[in-house]
Amino acid sequence: MSEKLTSIEPDPAPQTGMRKVFVKTYGCQMNVYDSQRMADSLAAEGYVATDTPEDADLVLLNTCHIREKASEKLFSALGRLRKMKDMRAAEGKEMTIGVAGCVAQAEGEEIIRRAPTVDLVIGPQTYHRLPEALARVRGGEKVVETEYAIEDKFEHLPAPRREVTRRRGVSAFLTVQEGCDKFCTFCVVPYTRGAEVSRPVAQIVAEAERLAEGGVRELTLLGQNVNAWHGTGDDGREWGLGELLFRLARIPGIARLRYTTSHPRDMDDALIAAHRDLPMLMPYLHLPVQSGSDRILKAMNRRHKAEEYLRLIDRIREARPDMALSGDFIVGFPGETDQDFEDTMELVRRVNYAQAYSFKYSPRPGTPGADLPNHVDEAVKDERLQRLQALLSSQQYAFQDSLVGVETDVLLEKPGRFAGQIVGRSPWLLPVIIDGNTDQIGDIIHVKITATGTNSLIAQKLT
Ligand code: SAH
Ligand code: SF4
Ligand code: F3S
Repeated sequence: MSEKLTSIEPDPAPQTGMRKVFVKTYGCQMNVYDSQRMADSLAAEGYVATDTPEDADLVLLNTCHIREKASEKLFSALGRLRKMKDMRAAEGKEMTIGVAGCVAQAEGEEIIRRAPTVDLVIGPQTYHRLPEALARVRGGEKVVETEYAIEDKFEHLPAPRREVTRRRGVSAFLTVQEGCDKFCTFCVVPYTRGAEVSRPVAQIVAEAERLAEGGVRELTLLGQNVNAWHGTGDDGREWGLGELLFRLARIPGIARLRYTTSHPRDMDDALIAAHRDLPMLMPYLHLPVQSGSDRILKAMNRRHKAEEYLRLIDRIREARPDMALSGDFIVGFPGETDQDFEDTMELVRRVNYAQAYSFKYSPRPGTPGADLPNHVDEAVKDERLQRLQALLSSQQYAFQDSLVGVETDVLLEKPGRFAGQIVGRSPWLLPVIIDGNTDQIGDIIHVKITATGTNSLIAQKLT
């Protein structure tokens, strides 16, 4: 999953006298989705979203714990917020500071100990208790909400109201699965997001229908291991993600489907068949492999070999020849030798990625990887990361260049930076810039790609 830094869309027409909430999102798409749901549930409590912390009555930081750098961002943000809170207090106004997300779950009350300015710590499995927790904060308590029962997981937050979904744009996230049982030895997610839970079909379909009624055309199904999703279908049979995608494809208005993030072990035949038989399932797949060395894959507990991954990629490309592949890589996992790293470079050459994320291994407290011997020198990690990123970017540019001259469909999403321009989404996720006006947002048009920009494509409308 990619890391994104976003704040919630501010409310376009706030009523006076309402309390303001500023939500800052760190980390993956799952957090983006959760931030929206928290803002939705706070809207029911009389809060409006604002895009600056300065005038907010409530600031919520939705945090990420995946690498050390990610979680340290929280404490630098809290340093700045403490000053803001003091200034507001001097004016006789209050500011409540809440920490949500994966650092909240991992660190709990330790956060308040380290940053006493924090009033509330709430983990991802307890967001449905947010209004009640805030009431307790108003009563003068410092609140830590990280304990949960597994059945709570999708008790969650109420479905978004229709007027809210209307502002969500034409492309929306929908969480179908949460948590992870894979326990890769480098990763905190199984500890911060808990055990794997699949959301029931009826709930998913209801939310998808609600989003479609609000104008959403493209759904991206989310899960830490989204392709581990399973459930009882509305035909009474046991479904996997492939069957779920076919069901969602029948919802009027929905024109495109995507899902992220997948684990190679859970790419089953039905899902691969969906890529062959369901044209609205977009030809872009994020399928992290982390390393191309069998020794390292084993130490990471990924539970597959490099060759198995490569064979899987072949089968996916047979099913959908225009598939663009994306991946995640970690360099410098403990014990990684020069040869192991060369094996990763070789795997990358063989797959030929359209896009990828790569990271230096960051030891995370409490994960088995942190206790392994033979940690790799920071300088060696730096050098490996640079070489890997150079190779991945050359593949990315080659992929973008290969699209010039191609005719394809684009979903128009939002106004461009300049008047008369509009930004759409290509099937391969890359944004496409086209001449057009905003009343076309939500349309899917046929275009010819004429050039590449920086991480975008330029296209002309075909009639
Ligand atoms: N569920 C997804 C990954 C979620 S984390 C999957 O299994 O693919 C997103 C990415 O962060 C991972 O794919 C991995 O490449 C990276 N990552 C996770 N833990 C890390 C660590 N300790 N150090 C460096 N990168 C890490
Ligand atoms: Fe982390 Fe591995 Fe689970 Fe992905 S599959 S979330 S990398 S433990
Ligand atoms: Fe980060 Fe938690 Fe997502 S650790 S990557 S926000 S699941």
